[in-house]
Amino acid sequence: MSLRFAAEGADVVIGDVREDPREGGRPTVELIEEDGGSAVFLTADAGRWDDIDRLVRTAVERRGRLDVMVPNAIVAGPHSKGLLETTEEDWDAIMHVGLRGVFLCCKRAVRQMLAQEPVAEARGRIITVSSQHGMIGAPGHVAYCTAKGGIVNLTRQLAVDFGPRGIIVNAIAPGKILTRPADEPDSPEVLAYSHARTPFARLGKPDDVAAAAVFLASDECTYVSGTNLLVDGGWMAY
Ligand SMILES: NC(=O)c1ccc[n+]([C@@H]2O[C@H](COP(=O)([O-])OP(=O)(O)OC[C@H]3O[C@@H](n4cnc5c(N)ncnc54)[C@H](O)[C@@H]3O)[C@@H](O)[C@H]2O)c1
Repeated sequence: MSLRFAAEGADVVIGDVREDPREGGRPTVELIEEDGGSAVFLTADAGRWDDIDRLVRTAVERRGRLDVMVPNAIVAGPHSKGLLETTEEDWDAIMHVGLRGVFLCCKRAVRQMLAQEPVAEARGRIITVSSQHGMIGAPGHVAYCTAKGGIVNLTRQLAVDFGPRGIIVNAIAPGKILTRPADEPDSPEVLAYSHARTPFARLGKPDDVAAAAVFLASDECTYVSGTNLLVDGGWMAY
């Protein structure tokens, strides 16, 4: 998403706990700058107010406003299990990033956006990242599904509360997107389950999600509000 936003001319402030992409390759800012784009990376924990505040202040210092906020971070992996196996630590680890982090990003972004003049009818746009598993259960992933379900309704809630003041809030719900590092591949069982659930002929790519994000971030996106845009190859239609 950062690469696509930068290619569209955005100045991108990237926050993450690590600068090197999980899936390998060079840092995103390097790739953007090589392409003539503009971006900065800040180490930031999505679940910490001070870090999110720093991200937004950086955007405002660079460009005078914050047009788009995309709370995208997640922790799942070994923390994501069934109810009986999930410890309090597992639950808190997922919620810290996957729900508290989204709440903090939205709150800080809305505070800034309310103080800005509208551009193309919007003071700002927020694009949360939910999941098909925010609408249905995924076998054995209790905290992840709960966090994602929370994001779907947080998105609706913020669209309702801040639409009247010119802030457009939508979610993207990815289906199975191939993002795992080469040395930590999805198990054959996960891939077989995902293929069985996905009518489209292939599984998703990050670019599929980025294309949807570019639309939701664009001036073309005005009357689309509070939606949960499925980018899932038809998973939820099946
Ligand atoms: N990949 C999929 O199939 C899929 C499906 C549905 C939804 N999603 C959602 O899409 C989004 C991106 O997923 P992904 O597959 O790229 O995940 P990923 O695990 O590859 O990347 C997650 C990123 O979040 C960062 N992160 C972890 N903890 C953080 C913290 N405390 N503060 C800031 N950053 C932190 C990680 O370093 C990493 O860069 C997530 O919200 C995920 O739930 C993904």
